[in-house]
Amino acid sequence: MDSSDFLTFLQRRSSVREYDGTAPGEDCIAFILQCARTAPSAGNREGWDVVIVTDPSLREGLSEAAFEQRHVGEAPAVLVVCANYIRSMSQYGERGILYAVQDATIAATFMMLAAHAAGLQTCWTGAFDEDAVRELLALPQHVRPVALLTVGYGTLPAVRTGRMPVADHVHRETWL
Ligand SMILES: Cc1cc2nc3c(=O)[nH]c(=O)nc-3n(C[C@H](O)[C@H](O)[C@H](O)COP(=O)(O)O)c2cc1C
Repeated sequence: MDSSDFLTFLQRRSSVREYDGTAPGEDCIAFILQCARTAPSAGNREGWDVVIVTDPSLREGLSEAAFEQRHVGEAPAVLVVCANYIRSMSQYGERGILYAVQDATIAATFMMLAAHAAGLQTCWTGAFDEDAVRELLALPQHVRPVALLTVGYGTLPAVRTGRMPVADHVHRETWL
């Protein structure tokens, strides 16, 4: 893959919120996890975990926790990507809180792109009640759910979203 292929690959990913119900195979899930494992992490502490949720009643519970977002209940799999504070804080103290969130975010990004590479569609879902997710999935206190990544096979053509011009993001040397 050359650099322009890589850009095309990224441009072809879009959030998808309608799924046909076909569950991703175990081989696809294993591929996604192998890709996530390659992500960088602060001090290589790998301050992330993931709960793979396929059980319909748990998915429904996640949908409720996500303020009734329908795609969360309808996706055949939801990867609940979590920051693991203990893993990062054991090396970095208070700074480890931020690092664990960053580690989890990078791992979730790799999972999203891995799913895309495997022909699956995803929707990164960040609007949810953390305590409700924590209770539903029996997450310990040192684990913070960061993203619900819904995964499945989309039924509709992807809708491409626009972006700001790159120049609107970029500052050179200083902010000024
Ligand atoms: C941090 C974050 C939180 C998001 N939360 C939600 C969400 O709660 N529900 C949802 O439907 N999409 C959510 N999205 C998906 C965005 O709406 C989507 O990425 C954005 O509109 C750009 O569209 P695209 O992914 O198709 O390129 C979230 C994305 C990110 C990165």
